[in-house]
Amino acid sequence: MSEGTALGTQLAAPAPETSFSSTVAARIDANIGFIYIDNPPVNALSHSVRSGLSAAVRTFSDAPGVQAIIVIGKGQTFPAGADIREFGRPIEEPALNAVNLSIEACRKPVIAAIHGTALGGGLEIALACHFRIALASARLGLPEVKLGVIPGAGGTQRLPRLIGIEQALRAIATSRILDAAEALQLGLVDAIVADDLHAHAIRFAQQVIAEGRPLRLVRDLQDKLAPASAGVFDEFESNLPARLRNRLAATRAIRSVRNAAALPFDEGLRKEREYVEECKASPQSAALQYVFFAERAAFKFDGYIAGALAGPEPLVGIAGAGALRTPLAAALLIGGCRVLLFDQNARALSDASSAIVERLERLSSKGRIASRQELQSLTAALEVTSEAASLRHCTAVIEVEPDMLSSKSAIVGALSALVGEKTALITTTALLSVDEIAAASRRPANVVGMHFFIPASTMRQVEIVRTDRSSNLAASIAVELSRRLEKIPVVSRDCDGFVGDRTLRAYLKEAIAILEEGVPAAHIDAALRDFGMAHGPFELCDFIGLDLAQRILDGRSGPGETGTKLIDLQRAGTPDGMPAHAGTSIPKILAAAIVERCLLAAAAEAKRLVAEGIVSRPSDVDIVWVNGLGFPEHCGGPLFWATQTTASVQR
Ligand code: COA
Repeated sequence: MSEGTALGTQLAAPAPETSFSSTVAARIDANIGFIYIDNPPVNALSHSVRSGLSAAVRTFSDAPGVQAIIVIGKGQTFPAGADIREFGRPIEEPALNAVNLSIEACRKPVIAAIHGTALGGGLEIALACHFRIALASARLGLPEVKLGVIPGAGGTQRLPRLIGIEQALRAIATSRILDAAEALQLGLVDAIVADDLHAHAIRFAQQVIAEGRPLRLVRDLQDKLAPASAGVFDEFESNLPARLRNRLAATRAIRSVRNAAALPFDEGLRKEREYVEECKASPQSAALQYVFFAERAAFKFDGYIAGALAGPEPLVGIAGAGALRTPLAAALLIGGCRVLLFDQNARALSDASSAIVERLERLSSKGRIASRQELQSLTAALEVTSEAASLRHCTAVIEVEPDMLSSKSAIVGALSALVGEKTALITTTALLSVDEIAAASRRPANVVGMHFFIPASTMRQVEIVRTDRSSNLAASIAVELSRRLEKIPVVSRDCDGFVGDRTLRAYLKEAIAILEEGVPAAHIDAALRDFGMAHGPFELCDFIGLDLAQRILDGRSGPGETGTKLIDLQRAGTPDGMPAHAGTSIPKILAAAIVERCLLAAAAEAKRLVAEGIVSRPSDVDIVWVNGLGFPEHCGGPLFWATQTTASVQR
């Protein structure tokens, strides 16, 4: 007798949970069969989940007392996707696609009860179910393209049938995540509930049973499949955001959604599988998965103290009058911190506080803050003081003075006399030595630097700069604040330029050297832009401002040859000066040589950073380039790219 049949008889009456695999358990409650997925932390769909789920569905299909089945995640979420760690290996049966087909074919209603993040394969399971109910806080999406693949268990065929072609294209090709309210509005879920998902799911199931509601097989839905116009797919592809330029998975996702409209379901499913295999074999997916894990690794450093940011709403002080004050304060408030704004001058304090509230209001009108009520509670979490002593209660105090050693040292020195042993003193600087700033303080162990990339409100990268004396606690607090700011932190030792600017300097110097050999700036820019950089090197200098570009090139030692050269070239104008930006075409071989020289220069500097112990792992430099300097994510960063390129040359 199979495991499943034995349980079917055994579960005729209410029974405790029975395991179907190490990560799937089931239970019958009255006439409803519950399938629990329990694979912390995110219920990723590893082999044991797939096999357990498959066996549980089979068992409940055959169990006479079971009239409906509810699939639900334990812990913090419905499954958040395939187990990315299994990507490089051959799939162990059952594949998710087969599991989903069996769920869909089940003759009893199967209901997905969704909380947390139903992503990737998790959402595909829900799409194969006959009904979906979600907690109001749930988020749903198919973000596989971010990892260089496409949904491979029916997502590209079922989602368009449920929410229509245009919405499905946006969700799949651009990895757009939907909140529960939007999911309801689009027809992706049948109901949303504010709390007690379990009880509501039972009620929903009883209603379906009582009404004898026909099973809704998404594969059979047709009414939303007609695209608004024949050109919709080409138009969508040509308007893809710049970060998805040259992204194989995005083009295959579009093609697969197109198939949903044009081909029978099973044929579309077969093609979807083909595209998945093609994407998986591409270097892009390897690079994107590398970036995924590298970003998560970056949060942990040797000595990292989990939970360093005490309490759910930590109090963060902000002192100083630099341009970072308003966006930083607003972002901290949105990230769930209380902010204590300090300025000795009452007028300046009131102006600064108004600027922060205005910014919150602007963000609210753009939909970045969910409701009026939330806006009010964020505003209420902003406190002001003109008494420096009040800052001593803060978990961290961030100084945002303009980037000059004298003012930074003065403010950090003054703060260090006020705060306690555990308060992190964070100095925000792009160019200065954190060591020197810390040396002027009474508590050098509390001092760490934070370097935000330009523009600070949108760039996801931040560098956390430790001196030899910075404590693990202070660095951990800075890392946790980065999380609140929704930024990726890279912990670096203090050095001239830290990680980003030091490697950028090597890259820009190489670009200037090529320029001096007679290649026009426009060609150099075009080559790197075509490679996938957000800006060519000279465009980047324009974008951040030539003054700053010159300071990056010069470093802490002050005006030097290369920085001056950049300015001279700019003054000299074309053809060797600043670029004529768009529409330049150059021979491929020249473009390849330009890309190789500039990126290998950056990679060589990156290796030196690792060798000097400035960062603890090579991937830290790569993600700084991806998130801070506009490097194409699907190429993994200059070090990853250099390793792949060298390997392919050697093959
Ligand atoms: N497979 C394997 N491991 C996964 C995973 C997946 N699909 N998703 C997350 N993890 C791991 C992370 O590596 C991390 O491990 P670590 O603690 O050892 O570093 C842990 O789960 C928690 O993830 P993290 O991203 O730090 O937590 P979070 O709460 O900030 O975010 C998610 C949770 C699910 C939103 C986020 O992890 C995510 O976007 N995952 C990928 C979802 C996806 O793309 N699914 C489709 C896959 S094809």
